[in-house]
Amino acid sequence: MLEHLNEQPKDKILALVAAYREDPRDTKVDLGVGVYKDASGNTPVMRAVKEAERRLVKDQTTKAYTGLAGDPAFSDAMIEMVLGDSVARNRVAAVATPGGTGAIRQALELIKLAAPGATVWLSDPTWPNHPSIIKYLGMKSKSYRYFDSETRNVDYVGMLTDLGAILPGDVVLLHGCCHNPTGANMTLPQWDGLIKLLQEKGAIPFIDIAYQGFGDGLEKDAAATRKVAAAFDNVLVAASCSKNFGIYRERTGILMAIAKDENIRDVAQQNLAFLNRQNFSFPPDHGARIVTTILTDPELRADWEAELEEVRLGMLELRTQLASELRRLSNSDRFDFLAEHRGMFSRLGTTPDKVEALRADHGIYMVGDSRMNIAGLNAETVPVLAKAIIDAGI
Ligand code: LMR
Repeated sequence: MLEHLNEQPKDKILALVAAYREDPRDTKVDLGVGVYKDASGNTPVMRAVKEAERRLVKDQTTKAYTGLAGDPAFSDAMIEMVLGDSVARNRVAAVATPGGTGAIRQALELIKLAAPGATVWLSDPTWPNHPSIIKYLGMKSKSYRYFDSETRNVDYVGMLTDLGAILPGDVVLLHGCCHNPTGANMTLPQWDGLIKLLQEKGAIPFIDIAYQGFGDGLEKDAAATRKVAAAFDNVLVAASCSKNFGIYRERTGILMAIAKDENIRDVAQQNLAFLNRQNFSFPPDHGARIVTTILTDPELRADWEAELEEVRLGMLELRTQLASELRRLSNSDRFDFLAEHRGMFSRLGTTPDKVEALRADHGIYMVGDSRMNIAGLNAETVPVLAKAIIDAGI
């Protein structure tokens, strides 16, 4: 049997992690995978997470199974954090999932159950795992323009034009904030215009929100998702706790399915529990319990929010430094977009061979589409990167 297996395509982001690890140069700079790093290059355990874990070790009396949907307190806390009061709680079905990827996978499986013929529209570009999972599940997908490679901003007109072709019941996958891989984001008035179009078309919005708190702040980053949640009968929201709680390896995420009314919500809830059962039975609990402990304890929550804000402001500072260093070296404003982008990533907007030159000549690792993880920089490496970009003729 196993001799019939073919090699599967390698994930480009994860392949880069391996290539970086093998590079012996001590001047190498890792701007690849989306993991936050502090100024010394470490990915620290956040203070509130440490404290929540300490409490868990002390107070937890059982490791028996949770429910198939995970701990209801986790769902409540996450729904409050992501959706605020944009939608009545009794319209929201939710399941804990293994990370944000697990939530995306379960959302796509739910779409397959509810609307097998639906096309899922993806931004061009998007996180490579979106099309990969869709293809693996044998679903239909199309892409809509999103990024203007000249301005390095959102190609809003192109986006609306392409989405003009969607059919009723098609699903449109949107990044709630901090677009991955570009860093370019719609303004709230642009979201309003998009919502109007999607309503007219009878589309189903599906939001992937993996970086809440990394862009303009915890509340502001949820604003677009909340607008969408309030405007449609049906919305899917996949949220990750990997980045904003820094608990990557705990695999903590949630899928929320907003239904028209409570009765439909109940059926959706039962379907979500069924899907968890088919795929892995019970979702991981440790990370979810850490998150619930933090979000429901005012003191821990305040400390977590403060540390998350430090992380966010640190990345903004790096953006400003990089843009101003490039302004100085290039004697132009053509890299100013770096300071306007939000979240962990920016797409530099250069060719794969220039990306390769940055790696070969300078030991600077970024994804082949020229996506940089801004959090991989520090005060010392910002000028190194800026000089390398200019040297490479970008
Ligand atoms: C990324 O885009 O780098 C992260 O979401 C990590 C991953 O799993 O790809």
